Amino acid sequence: MTKPHEFTDNFKEKVAIITGASSGIGQAVAEAIAGYGAHTVFISRSGADAIAADLNAAGKSALSLHCDVSNEEQVKQAIATIFDKYGRIDILINNAAINQIAKIEDISLEDWNRVLATNLTSQFLCCKQVVPIMKQQRSGKIINVSSIAGHFRSKISGIHYVASKAGVVGFTRQLAYELAPFQINVNAICPSQTYTPMLAATLPPEAEQKLIDSIPLGRIASMEEQVNVILFLASELSSYMTGAIVDVNGGQL
Ligand SMILES: NC(=O)c1ccc[n+]([C@@H]2O[C@H](COP(=O)([O-])OP(=O)(O)OC[C@H]3O[C@@H](n4cnc5c(N)ncnc54)[C@H](O)[C@@H]3O)[C@@H](O)[C@H]2O)c1
Repeated sequence: MTKPHEFTDNFKEKVAIITGASSGIGQAVAEAIAGYGAHTVFISRSGADAIAADLNAAGKSALSLHCDVSNEEQVKQAIATIFDKYGRIDILINNAAINQIAKIEDISLEDWNRVLATNLTSQFLCCKQVVPIMKQQRSGKIINVSSIAGHFRSKISGIHYVASKAGVVGFTRQLAYELAPFQINVNAICPSQTYTPMLAATLPPEAEQKLIDSIPLGRIASMEEQVNVILFLASELSSYMTGAIVDVNGGQL
């Protein structure tokens, strides 16, 4: 049984994939897992080559793959590359997403499809490739990043973003049910507003104080406050959790 003070040992020699790892929460969680000794794959469209090179130079094990997670062929190729290199996959963190602030009248069908494809279909595509490997191993941890927007609604996102994140909640519960017999844990985290490049792009500076005033804990989350919960869900400390939708929102719901 893993003791809390030993939990980072869980990551040694594990193979972990993080999507959307070139920025924000994804980068921070990938760097943390690599720091704890996992073979860590940074997936993003533009790549995280410099981040991975720095980690490798520091004696860690990191691989940067360029992949659009909404593109089935690219996802298939990325997962095949990872499996060929490491021979197993222990942790998948489906984190990549985009946001757009717009009213329904101003959202084109193209916008809708792009947001749904990036935020929800991508999780299906990555899981579809990774699940057979985890089933074979009879072990694995999948963490899907949803949002407070998917659990309730949003002050700073469009209806397509909110629908995609609500989709992640249903996707997570059903996948957890399907994979429980194989000892694969599937959980989701619903972060609220967190200081990252995505928030900087969507929260007007004049709205920041009003938002802070509406949060019971009285502040916007730091990246570490989201990363720590993802690490917990990726570790053996959460071995009896599956299908959980974990709110990390400063008491907003
Ligand atoms: N920051 C917040 O306030 C907040 C709040 C709630 C939920 N979230 C969720 O947390 C997660 C991380 O958000 P963040 O704030 O760190 O965002 P971010 O914009 O800083 O990072 C998103 C990452 O996803 C990548 N990405 C986007 N589209 C991609 C694609 N098609 N293929 C591959 N990679 C792609 C980007 O390149 C980037 O690396 C997202 O799922 C987001 O919806 C964030």
